[in-house]
Amino acid sequence: MSLGRTWSVVLTGLVGDIVEVEADLSNQIPGFSIIGLADKALGEAQQRVHNACANSDLPLPRRHVTVNLSPANLPKRGSAMDVAVAIAAVATEAPLDRQSLLETVHLGELGLDGRLRPVSGVLPAVVAAARAGFRRVIVPQGNLAEAELVDGIDVRGAVSLRDVARAHGLDVPDVEVEPVAAIDGGAADEPPAPDLAEVIGQRDAVEALVVAAAGGHHLLMSGPPGAGKTMLAKRLPGLLPDLDDDTALQVASIRSLAGLPVTSLQRRPPFEAPHHTASAVALVGGGSRILQPGAIARASGGVLFLDEAGEFSGHALDALRQPLESGRMEIHRAGFRAVLPARFQLVIATNPCPCGNYGVPGGACSCPSLAIRRYLGRLSGPLVDRIDIELGLQRISATQGIGAGTTSEEARGRVIAARDRAGRRLADTPWRMNSEVEGTWLRSGPLRPDRSITRPLDDALHRGSITLRGYDRVLRVAWTLADLAGKDRPDAADVGGALYLKRGASAS
Ligand SMILES: Nc1ncnc2c1ncn2[C@@H]1O[C@H](COP(=O)(O)OP(=O)(O)OP(=O)(O)O)[C@@H](O)[C@H]1O
Ligand SMILES: [Mg+2]
Repeated sequence: MSLGRTWSVVLTGLVGDIVEVEADLSNQIPGFSIIGLADKALGEAQQRVHNACANSDLPLPRRHVTVNLSPANLPKRGSAMDVAVAIAAVATEAPLDRQSLLETVHLGELGLDGRLRPVSGVLPAVVAAARAGFRRVIVPQGNLAEAELVDGIDVRGAVSLRDVARAHGLDVPDVEVEPVAAIDGGAADEPPAPDLAEVIGQRDAVEALVVAAAGGHHLLMSGPPGAGKTMLAKRLPGLLPDLDDDTALQVASIRSLAGLPVTSLQRRPPFEAPHHTASAVALVGGGSRILQPGAIARASGGVLFLDEAGEFSGHALDALRQPLESGRMEIHRAGFRAVLPARFQLVIATNPCPCGNYGVPGGACSCPSLAIRRYLGRLSGPLVDRIDIELGLQRISATQGIGAGTTSEEARGRVIAARDRAGRRLADTPWRMNSEVEGTWLRSGPLRPDRSITRPLDDALHRGSITLRGYDRVLRVAWTLADLAGKDRPDAADVGGALYLKRGASAS
């Protein structure tokens, strides 16, 4: 018996494909080669596998070992197939349990010393293995916690190649070695979102934030420095409902792919706030071998916050177009194309001008008018077209009441009730939130509001003071206002309220 066969997974974005790893011996000059569209990393795998085996007292046969990865047309990248390659090669001569090898998917990179090194993307890879019906997956010890989040498959952690061989019935001594530590990418558990109750005054702004949360509406806040834009945006995730099972798994999978620690299924929506110096690649994602999801994908299921949005580069802002339109993002790299989910709630904060004083009562703006136009112009067009709520903020003054505002918990209760109401109404449609509903359905669908209610809007449309797109945005927000108030349909007050939120609540 000179054939060793087992399995691994190759990831393209979040999509995992099962790869068959087959090793065979031949009577050529002793050596080791991997075939099947292997990239550079897999070429290097030859060396790693060779040394790891030697240092684990699992020497490779003194003949020529050929490892074939199939399907051949699947581009295979990265180092997560090391362990499968090594164990298949060892199995060509050593008495490993063949059945056990055939039932197991192996993930992990090998160090020269024979220890298993954690890799990114283990969670989506294990999901793929479980879906393909495999009974067992062996992962590096440092990836065990995230692999165990997947149901329906037996997950084992291994510290060394020896452990893996022993799991398949080979009688090798159990040498105590230190596991390679898990990928260190910051804290696994983020601190809780700050509370809305800490916001003094700003009743209109807080209410607008609740509306945005309830309808999933994209939100633009503009106002002078210190008006509380950043403070408000950071409180949005605390108003959102918990993630459902599928979205929570998706969020965790993207974190896993990004090499961030994943130890539990986080139910809190993610909050991504890329710095304004971020490049388009930082937003979209990069990496040539393994795709590193950028801020846009990491925000999927939650909130993407662009603070000081006027300072972002045009390229970076352009990168938002496709995800805003389609809820997904295609990434093209040499040799592969991946699609990542990118369904997020966008929050944009900006000063009214570079110096921040334009339009501020009592403030003296020193910016040339051209600079102001250029500053805000960058945010115009396709980006602002998607924004349902424009909120103008002013700094709070001493005269504004210090009375206790609403807490995040209270607001979240209202948001969840409103979303449930919208969800029931939209049950037979492709949409779940008001922000997703198409304009034609709003204007001429079965629940079209009565003409008497939309009259101010219709008039504005005829006068040309509002575009059709703007009209739809007002209707969307009006529905959310009705949902928050527990009404079956928006009334004239809701349309008025939505118009106000669209134009931007100026002085509050
Ligand atoms: N309504 C408010 N209630 C309580 N604190 C406030 C309020 N508005 C502003 N602050 C305080 O002012 C600080 C500055 O607010 P914040 O950073 O949110 O302003 P900003 O609008 O984002 O300003 P910039 O344009 O400079 O980024 C906050 O950290 C907070 O302590
Ligand atoms: Mg700020």
